[in-house]
Amino acid sequence: MDEIAKAVEILRRGGLVAFPTETVYGLGADAGSTEAVRRLYAAKQRPHDNPTIVHVADAQSAQRYAASWPEHARRLAERFWPGPLTLVLPRSDRVVPEASAGRDTVGLRCPDHPLALALLRAFDGPVAAPSANRSTRVSPTTAQHVREELGDAVDLILDGGPCRVGIESTVLDLSGSRPTILRPGAITQGQIQAQIGPVNVPPDEPPRGPARSPGMQELHYAPRTPAWRFTTEQLSEVLERSHGGAVLLIGPVIGVSEVAGRVVEMPSLPEAYARCLYSVLREMDRPPIAAIFIEMPPDEPAWAAVRDRLRRATRPL
Ligand code: TXA
Ligand code: MG
Repeated sequence: MDEIAKAVEILRRGGLVAFPTETVYGLGADAGSTEAVRRLYAAKQRPHDNPTIVHVADAQSAQRYAASWPEHARRLAERFWPGPLTLVLPRSDRVVPEASAGRDTVGLRCPDHPLALALLRAFDGPVAAPSANRSTRVSPTTAQHVREELGDAVDLILDGGPCRVGIESTVLDLSGSRPTILRPGAITQGQIQAQIGPVNVPPDEPPRGPARSPGMQELHYAPRTPAWRFTTEQLSEVLERSHGGAVLLIGPVIGVSEVAGRVVEMPSLPEAYARCLYSVLREMDRPPIAAIFIEMPPDEPAWAAVRDRLRRATRPL
């Protein structure tokens, strides 16, 4: 039997299939089955108040899982699907409440990856798929990362090689009175506004306190090694504090102290930076590296998604 047929069979009997998307690897379960979704939350150790994204093969099937399909959804799906944009809409009964953490909305996304699309077409149903990592950890961008994260907790891993985008999709809430970006991603505010007019965005440096939206708490995408972010002005302070095997990430170059003995060059363009960010963090997240220091990229719209993930992965110096 080919891999896709095997994956479909696993999903039909309530199992878990990890699959590649253009953003990160997802851990998929049948979003029409309460039991399957419960298993998914258990495998990820995901808090029950954090909704999952439901993946679909195209805009037509998305309309089965949304209770309404407004003009904004039509335009955005036509322009950006398949692609890294999740649309939050009123939820239809065909998606079990557990997949949406009990909310009456659902996040829908059509991923731009041939293996994901083949799976979704063959399954012909809604697939709940959060990133295939344990809760609060760095998202996986290769099949090997998924193996390290989840091991036996997953029934099958479809290997599609490294992910092209590297960070999670833009999440846009269309269920309220004004479209609001809940999570920045590769599809930018400007690209969305060009299609549907003004959208609200979260502040670049969110206020401290309780999470505004589920899954948006501090240190959501964190390595285990203590990780700090700093501004260019703090560079000399960082150099002072980084003795003893600490790692530095400097500007477009990630430099490493003599003790750790490693230098990783980070790309100076946001797309290329995003593509390698999680695998670099994973690589550095092991002894002898005692701390990770990351220079924040410029406060510019093109860097919004990367800055968001860096803020969640680090504490300010
Ligand atoms: O790129 C991606 O979106 C990846 C790949 C696998 O598709 N998936 C992903 O899923 O990042 P996850 O579960 O790690 O992130 C889901 C986030 C939630 O934490 C929440 O912020 C938002 O999407 N979300 C999902 N459904 C929502 C809803 N109904 N209302 C508000 N936010 C929602
Ligand atoms: Mg995640």
